[in-house]
Amino acid sequence: MNAEQGLRESYWIETAPGGAPAPPPAGDLDVDVAVVGGGMAGLSAAWELVRRGREVAVLEAGRIAGGVTGHTTAKLTALHTLVYDHLRRTRGREGARLYARSQSAAIHRAAEIVTDLGIDCDWEEAAACTYAQNEQDVEKMRAEAEAAREAGLPAEFVTETELPYPVAGAVRVTGQAQFHPVKYLLGLADELCRRGGTVYEGTRVTGLTEGKPCVLSTDTGVKVRAREVVVATHYPVFDRALLFTRLSPRRELVVAGTLDADRAPRDMYITTEENTRSVRSAPYADGTRLLVVTGEHFAPGTADVEERFDRLAAWADSRFPGLTLTHRWATQDNDSTDSVPLVGHLHPGSRHTYVATGFGGWGLSGGIMAGQLIGDLVEGRAVEWAGLYDPRRLVSVVREGGSLLTHQAHVAKHFVGDRLPSVTSPSPEDLAPGDGAVLRVGGHRCAVHRDDSGQLHAVSARCTHLGCLVAFNRAEQAWECPCHGSRFAPDGRILQGPAVRPLEKRDI
Ligand code: FES
Repeated sequence: MNAEQGLRESYWIETAPGGAPAPPPAGDLDVDVAVVGGGMAGLSAAWELVRRGREVAVLEAGRIAGGVTGHTTAKLTALHTLVYDHLRRTRGREGARLYARSQSAAIHRAAEIVTDLGIDCDWEEAAACTYAQNEQDVEKMRAEAEAAREAGLPAEFVTETELPYPVAGAVRVTGQAQFHPVKYLLGLADELCRRGGTVYEGTRVTGLTEGKPCVLSTDTGVKVRAREVVVATHYPVFDRALLFTRLSPRRELVVAGTLDADRAPRDMYITTEENTRSVRSAPYADGTRLLVVTGEHFAPGTADVEERFDRLAAWADSRFPGLTLTHRWATQDNDSTDSVPLVGHLHPGSRHTYVATGFGGWGLSGGIMAGQLIGDLVEGRAVEWAGLYDPRRLVSVVREGGSLLTHQAHVAKHFVGDRLPSVTSPSPEDLAPGDGAVLRVGGHRCAVHRDDSGQLHAVSARCTHLGCLVAFNRAEQAWECPCHGSRFAPDGRILQGPAVRPLEKRDI
């Protein structure tokens, strides 16, 4: 996507491409546990179960760590922006304490894994800071510092940081970490396979029949029978508890560039101001570090992505003069309506199916926590924080009424609006090279794209998940569904679920 700017895509994937893809299963499988999704949550769950002697198969539609995990900022921290003050008010002090303990336990588990398995993943201990530049936000920082400290984190309120611009106030938590997420997961997957687990790549799971055993269907025709199934596909591809009503997809942009090592911040920073800005640095070549800056979140299907990239790059350049941009990419998160991930049994009646989702941009500590929690649930062990994360928890009007209504209004607008006839419909001739639009062709809505050579390509504009209309993201050359965040290539291939079927080709 970055040919015009000469920028490369995800640094994490570029510098840890992995070996040849693991082939799909050659025939039907019978295993103890099938894990759907080879990102941080899926591989962490697989690891926890393999080390307890379970026979585990990981089924990944693309490459392991090639989805959201390979596109994060890769901060491993229990300080999630301003979550503790929020939890203290909505879940009480005990809820905030359980959240802090579970996320801290995940960081400790990752550190243990890195040491015990000797994974070379650029691990660095660092502090995490949430800061405000506006004076009117300082009280929020003070409140967060107090709530995080009460929850058990080593948190303090500070007014000085190493950032090259002033802050009005910040909450700082020491003893956190940053690392290279793809190197970490590839190392974990290697050891998982050495201990008897199996990873299958290029294997999209398309159906789930629950029972004893559960049966998974795949796009290769192979069936996988498993006593336990873990759905760790980011946005769940099987949603038997209507979790989609409680999850909002959000895209976020990342720009990265090199900076002299002595000018790069060593701790990790985030602010909610200016549509979120998150900053960290990573080891790079010859006396430099790679500055990784994230921000500009927006709903999938939003049109002005190129402008947002420009805005983020300009912000990074103004705050860190001398920065040489080398990479840019985008990522996608799912926010739960009560700001707590949904991890545990897939639905109220499920005994052998589990889900991990709704990490709200904190899917590294969240994914590792989910792996530990699901490992314990499969083993039938009681876990102190299982109730906090239980996807079957009731909707609370106090906790999530506002965000639930906002999310539902957004989805309802598309469910209804996308089924009404459009007033005007541009014609394919109006499309410039690289552009795409939903056009009415022969009475059908088609998603039409003109490639750089001028050739037109058309696919159905109806998302194969639940039928909303897709919209074109020109900066990333992708069709995106605004309802639950499925993404498709211009030729209709799935880039990101929850859809499990491609957009159908259309003739124009
Ligand atoms: Fe649900 Fe498209 S992702 S309708």
